[in-house]
Amino acid sequence: MSLPERREDIGVSAMSGDKFAPRPQGRASGISLFRPGQPAPETAVTYDLATGREIFSAALPAPVLNPGRVWESLGPVQLSGEHLAGNGLFPASSSEPAAAAFDQLRSRLLHGLAQKGWRRIAITSPTHGCGKSLVATNLALALARRPASRTVLIDLDLRRPRLADLLGIADAPPLEDFLTGEQPLEGVFRRFGRTLALGLNGTPVEMASELLHSPDTMQALSAMTEQLDPEVVLCDLPPALVGDDVLAMAPALDAVLLVTDGTRSTPDEIRACERMFDSRLPLLGVVLNRAQEKAARRFGYGRS
Ligand SMILES: Nc1ncnc2c1ncn2[C@@H]1O[C@H](COP(=O)(O)OP(=O)(O)O)[C@@H](O)[C@H]1O
Ligand SMILES: [Mg+2]
Repeated sequence: MSLPERREDIGVSAMSGDKFAPRPQGRASGISLFRPGQPAPETAVTYDLATGREIFSAALPAPVLNPGRVWESLGPVQLSGEHLAGNGLFPASSSEPAAAAFDQLRSRLLHGLAQKGWRRIAITSPTHGCGKSLVATNLALALARRPASRTVLIDLDLRRPRLADLLGIADAPPLEDFLTGEQPLEGVFRRFGRTLALGLNGTPVEMASELLHSPDTMQALSAMTEQLDPEVVLCDLPPALVGDDVLAMAPALDAVLLVTDGTRSTPDEIRACERMFDSRLPLLGVVLNRAQEKAARRFGYGRS
């Protein structure tokens, strides 16, 4: 793949909203070293040796998950700088205007999340090809450049998985196995360095909507968030106006970032997305990708 010819121009408009999903319980299946579905706390009982009567009982604390150990258990991946650069990705800080735009988006996102206590973010767009995957990956790389931070990037565009190719990872396992509980987290997720966990998908899923609607998927995602304890989870989702996958995922998300294509997303499409999210999913911001030169200059983003 050749280098993108147009530079990315990212504008973010902060928006409001209030929706907190209840924190679901851990998943029931899959064999994990770090199963979050803890057994019910055992009861410690002390008996009076003389009478044999119970004199004290108290619940033992639940075992504490150690996210550091969970991260260590993920297989590390090596990424080729050349491959990433060829796909318009920035793994390292760069003076490129597009890289600077992603750093700026990262700061705004973190600020917005901190204000609301959110961390599970959907990346979607009105239609296909607006740059969701590119933006999600660059944003994840920018977030992961912060030392001692924890970011998760997960490919939930199940019909058209793209992140493994984009990152140059050939042997990504089927994410479906994790979502259905057949495989544990450490069997499917990988890590890049110590700050980015990757839930890639090597096999497109035909019945994607059904899988996303399933309680198993909700449980698996909840367990993943609990085990990895990241500051930010970025979910690369299908387009909002194609099917109902985004709404299906709403209970597992805190907010949505809408990627629009400056060359073809229409105001009507953007309004249709806003109406669709409405009270169900707070719109955290709108990212303007492929902004035209003139508009970009006017807003002052991404200029050299
Ligand atoms: N700002 C941009 N400049 C140049 N090419 C871009 C830009 N954004 C996306 N692309 C390219 O457009 C194609 C579609 O992008 P992608 O991120 O896969 O879209 P989506 O995930 O929304 O379907 C990819 O080949 C990607 O490299
Ligand atoms: Mg995509």
